[in-house]
Amino acid sequence: MQIKTLEEYLDTYRRSVEDPIGFWSEIASHFLWKQPWQRVLDYDWDKPEFRWFDGAKLNITENCLDRHLATQADKPAIIWEPNDPNEPNRVLTYRELHQEVCRLANALKSMGVQKGDRVCIYLPMIPELAIAVLACARIGAIHSVVFAGFSSRSLATRIDDAQCKLLLTADGSFRGDKIIPLKEIADRALEMSETQCVEKVLVYRRTGSDISLQEGRDYWWHEMVGQADTHCPAEVMDAEDPLFILYTSGSTGKPKGILHTTAGYMVYTTYSFLNVFQYSGDDIYWCTADIGWITGHSYIVYGPLSAGATTVMFEGVPTYPDAGRFWAVVEKYRVNQFYTAPTAIRALMKFPLDFVQRYDLSSLKVIGTVGEPINEEAWIWYKKHVGNAKVPIVDTWWQTETGGILITTLPDVLLDRPTFAGKPLPGIQPILFDDDARVVEGFPASGKLGIRFPWPSMARTIWGDHQRYKETYFRYPQRYFTGDGALRDEHNYYRITGRIDDIIIVSGHNLGTAPIEDVINTHPNVVESAIVGFPHPVKGNALFAFIILKQTPEDTAALAEEINQLIAREIGPIAKCDKIAFVPGLPKTRSGKIMRRILRKIAAGQTDDFGDTSTLLNPEVVEQIQKTVQQL
Ligand code: WTA
Repeated sequence: MQIKTLEEYLDTYRRSVEDPIGFWSEIASHFLWKQPWQRVLDYDWDKPEFRWFDGAKLNITENCLDRHLATQADKPAIIWEPNDPNEPNRVLTYRELHQEVCRLANALKSMGVQKGDRVCIYLPMIPELAIAVLACARIGAIHSVVFAGFSSRSLATRIDDAQCKLLLTADGSFRGDKIIPLKEIADRALEMSETQCVEKVLVYRRTGSDISLQEGRDYWWHEMVGQADTHCPAEVMDAEDPLFILYTSGSTGKPKGILHTTAGYMVYTTYSFLNVFQYSGDDIYWCTADIGWITGHSYIVYGPLSAGATTVMFEGVPTYPDAGRFWAVVEKYRVNQFYTAPTAIRALMKFPLDFVQRYDLSSLKVIGTVGEPINEEAWIWYKKHVGNAKVPIVDTWWQTETGGILITTLPDVLLDRPTFAGKPLPGIQPILFDDDARVVEGFPASGKLGIRFPWPSMARTIWGDHQRYKETYFRYPQRYFTGDGALRDEHNYYRITGRIDDIIIVSGHNLGTAPIEDVINTHPNVVESAIVGFPHPVKGNALFAFIILKQTPEDTAALAEEINQLIAREIGPIAKCDKIAFVPGLPKTRSGKIMRRILRKIAAGQTDDFGDTSTLLNPEVVEQIQKTVQQL
């Protein structure tokens, strides 16, 4: 399945466009099926509906686990590096991981979980998180992993939306020098839950914190799982049976429960993993993401394990105990492929070079980034100091909704160039189009980024809201709309220029402005608010809130802090605003729409050239806002 030369890439790509059915059925033949498919692809852009490998039967965990037992049962599947470097690490071979997954799967069954039930997973980055994901897949339960940095409210909303029957969590979580009381947060979420759908909670002991278990609802993991049988037959799943729901921010309203299904997701994540990282033999692969995000789902768990790789899982943070931690871990395990976020690189760049140079990074063969554009300066630092000026960088563009990497370069096949993600992987047909939905051909070209042919790992719906799925991603004819802008140059390389909707990417996390504004507006002293993003040297973007108050207090700094605490409590610390300005008004059009374009310019420090403000209802407010911002 691996592409090794430019000619092969060009040939494979051409074939994938001319004969997608033949191309994908060839790729799919490398997997373990209980029954073959009848049709490779059925689709309808208008419904919209996409069915891949229809008629096939399989279980993804047999591909991730069972099929490797014959040939490499003793190969490490997961190497887990704890938050504290002095705590012993854990290594699970494919045999051990298989047993642990079966054990938990049996425990889940004994607790009443059945095929199609939703299970919420709210766990730190410990092996049990990967085990939990796979145990659900083993029995056909749909997992919904919620990042363990989210608040009680965010957890409750997600539990209610998916109607989860069971919650998997831990007593606490270690992050750097902090302990986060996960069980307490989960308890509050269960109190807030409007539908009270969660019947049982399974709690893993990680921090040894003092917690209370609610009789009849909460159970210790070690008590339920320790005794369970290590054999669990894999549930027979249809190709299009749901595999998981993962929530991502929308530009308006509540988070979107992105639904991925089984066969297409498996085929695409495995294929892209093998090609983008050129994994081979006994390579050690490390992706630093959290499994609470799509990157962790596709490129810590499913893709690597299905490919039979050794995948490193890291519990901690890049700067604990110091800014050399990533590189210490690379040296410790002789990591060959390293995959991280631009924001982490930018954060580490600020520290003395010694933190990198102290370590032997000569094992690295590929280094990658994901989640947001990587600026040229960070790219060059990464290449030079981590990649020893020669290791290929893969700047991978994709989304929760795409399931896997769509645009990238391939190591030693397609040249890496700063600020360009690269070219489409085989099977992916990107287009640029203008405001009238007309496709822009040739180069140089810029426009909205779309994909004009289905691919196996595309999201199938938004849980419980197919109409929103249609309106968000399929509002233009015959294409998937990404929400990103991009440009294409003479080498047919794509540069992603950023979101063109009201989603802001802060430290690689997607945040919708509307839900944060909604939280701010619940403060009794707030009349109205608007949030925009502004460039930030480490986070990529940071949030700037413009707020109209009922009454201006003496101590505005204290009020700003109070508002940030409110946001942290209701959404999570990642959604806090770096800057808050209390302003007399917001620039509005005559129809009452906030002119965010102007606020973005002010937030970026621009002092003139706000474009045509004559159409504003209240042009005078622009100058007043500027004054306030200058005084911040
Ligand atoms: C952005 C993360 C530029 C983009 C896998 C996309 C990127 C959003 C890149 C999806 C990249 C992701 N270069 N921008 N290499 N990768 N993005 O759903 O705006 O958390 O739409 O998925 O991140 O974020 P999500």
